Amino acid sequence: MRNLLAALFLTTTILGYAQQKTIDQKVDELLQKMTLEEKIGQLNQYTGDNTVTGPLTINANKQQEIKEGKIGSMLNVIGWKYTRQYQELAMQSRLKIPLLFGLDVIHGYKTTFPLPLAEAASWDLNAMELSARIAATEAAASGIHWTFAPMVDISRDPRWGRVMEGAGEDTYLGSRIAYARVKGFQGNKLGDLNSVMACAKHFAAYGAAVGGRDYNSVDMSDRMLWETYLPPFKATVDAGVATFMNSFNDINGIPATANKYIQRDILKGKWNFQGFVVSDWGSIGEMIAHGYCKDGKEAAEKAVLAGSDMDMESNAYRNHLAQLVNENKVPLSIVDEAVKRILRKKFELGLFDDPYKFCSKERQDKALSNPEHTKAAREVAAKSIVLLKNEKNILPLSKETKTIAFIGPMVKPKRINHGFWAIDLKDIDSTYIVSQWEGLQNKVGKKTKLLYAKGCGILDTDKSGFKEAIEVANQADVVILSIGERFDMSGEAKSRSNIHLPGVQEDLIKELQKTGKPIVILINAGRPLIFNWTADNMPTIVYTWWLGSEAGNAIADVLFGDYNPSGKLPMSFPREEGQIPIYYNHFSTGRPSINEDKVYKSAYIDLPNSPKFPFGYGLSYTTFKYGDLKLSKTKISSNETLEVSMTITNTGKFAGEEVVQLYLQDKFGSVVRPIMELKDFQKIKLEAGESKTLTFSIDNEKLSFYNQVLEFKSEPGEFNLMIGSSSADIRLNSTFELIP
Ligand code: NOJ
Repeated sequence: MRNLLAALFLTTTILGYAQQKTIDQKVDELLQKMTLEEKIGQLNQYTGDNTVTGPLTINANKQQEIKEGKIGSMLNVIGWKYTRQYQELAMQSRLKIPLLFGLDVIHGYKTTFPLPLAEAASWDLNAMELSARIAATEAAASGIHWTFAPMVDISRDPRWGRVMEGAGEDTYLGSRIAYARVKGFQGNKLGDLNSVMACAKHFAAYGAAVGGRDYNSVDMSDRMLWETYLPPFKATVDAGVATFMNSFNDINGIPATANKYIQRDILKGKWNFQGFVVSDWGSIGEMIAHGYCKDGKEAAEKAVLAGSDMDMESNAYRNHLAQLVNENKVPLSIVDEAVKRILRKKFELGLFDDPYKFCSKERQDKALSNPEHTKAAREVAAKSIVLLKNEKNILPLSKETKTIAFIGPMVKPKRINHGFWAIDLKDIDSTYIVSQWEGLQNKVGKKTKLLYAKGCGILDTDKSGFKEAIEVANQADVVILSIGERFDMSGEAKSRSNIHLPGVQEDLIKELQKTGKPIVILINAGRPLIFNWTADNMPTIVYTWWLGSEAGNAIADVLFGDYNPSGKLPMSFPREEGQIPIYYNHFSTGRPSINEDKVYKSAYIDLPNSPKFPFGYGLSYTTFKYGDLKLSKTKISSNETLEVSMTITNTGKFAGEEVVQLYLQDKFGSVVRPIMELKDFQKIKLEAGESKTLTFSIDNEKLSFYNQVLEFKSEPGEFNLMIGSSSADIRLNSTFELIP
């Protein structure tokens, strides 16, 4: 009897498994039921009305179209209530296919974190994963399924306003960060209530727009594309990213949106990416203005054939795809493939089991008022701050300081600290921001007197506020001056030809300097700015970027030494715009300018070649000594790993963190190699006086590069190994040889 029962149990279990359909089977079954119109509907994405993130191109009755199954996804619908309302409409459609809700959750949802570029300055992968995790938790609780992040575009051009949204100029650092951010957004798995789909964007090479002008063309060699611009995208695929977004630019004459090589051959082919690709806002329709397609119909044809699965706000698939299929210009199999990729994600998210699973008032309320999120925002913000100068050790300030004058246009406003991509949450209280003034108030005790003057506006030419600022400064023991560019002077469509400190802010610094008071300069910006006079004449400079909800507290933590700054620049800061593009890992040229030698050398006669502040640079309140470099071998073959160890000691008075950076140079190659390339780093914390031994592993991948025929391979020969505190502050050197 027992045996019989066991056999029965086994049979039912096996049958149960057999009945459990895989997602692919469910997708196929659903596809069978769909009309061509319904299929095309899944490829169609419209914007909602809660926010606008591009030029509106569609004049449609969205509600009706959703009910007719003509829309597969919406962006810019924010909050549990609105996502629910739209989803209810989708549930009235014939096949009840749920909508996907996407949103630019770039650096936080309600709790805003530092700009991505600022966070990159932390070089703290755990911190960046955590900030993405928290953003996902908050957004997912509000009905959002999908963030259009991370932006993983490498950029060597600080004129480009979107540098604020990426990880800076370096491919290795950018790839590590890209991986961490995807993991953060997607969590353990899609379908978990605190996970959102990530979207690697903008595919590809958007960060190399000519002249740093947004939406501009890109002209680059295949080798540069593979070596410098593609690896962060590949890292997102390795991290399991659910979606990709293509880019507005053309690459060597072919718009990315219609670029088969980029989307089909590389992404879906070589990299075997199984998710779907969404166009950028209107980028399918914009191929007409590019001069690449004569009308919307041709644009739809070229985009879908090239592998753009979803049409964001162009109307091109909605208006033309059916006709293109009927005319046999687009095979039905291409449409089916795109639909399947999208449906698969809807199944993975669990939306067919419960289309409303992500929109819950209760969960939203809870997620948006979690004190742990605020705490993390403060910590990540402090880690993102970069100490550029502290010559007279004015910092950290004493909490006993009697009178502090806090001056400048950035001191009192709140909203600016959010930075460009902050989300306006409408019904939800999204005003929670600690201003810089409030942060200082929170920090000092009752005995410290705080004085304030605005001094000037950000873009003003008016100097009438200087007088009050000088008066206030004269009464203080220390002056803190908060200046920079407006928060919306970086971001999408915010390229600048002149990236100097705007307005009369530098004049204000000059006037305040005359008071003889110790002055701490805070520079707020979404990109590297140029501020040569300040850099040369002011002893204490802190680069604060835009730090998010907890900006004020985080700045105060650093100013008073409750957090010892540890940020390192993820981009080179130019001396003048004329040096751009500027990046540390350039080639040597046949006439390198050594020690700024200019005679028949590759140099500017009116400027040094070096940046004002180099990649990887940033100070601490303590000092670190590097020593004891040891290599496990001096010769290795390509199947071996070289172990490199070194000792780092905190030689100052404060506990602190250091980012130990390892660079390599392949001295001679079948194609020329950069003078140095970041290949590893470790961020470690040391108590005052403490030493630690760090070990790095160098395997064949770190020695490989794309050769003339685009094979990724190492070549035997000599390598320089450099370990340092920045790309321009190498403390330990050695060489080793790769043998055949
Ligand atoms: C255009 C931007 O380039 C892209 O990054 C963003 O995700 C979309 N607009 C949607 O807002």
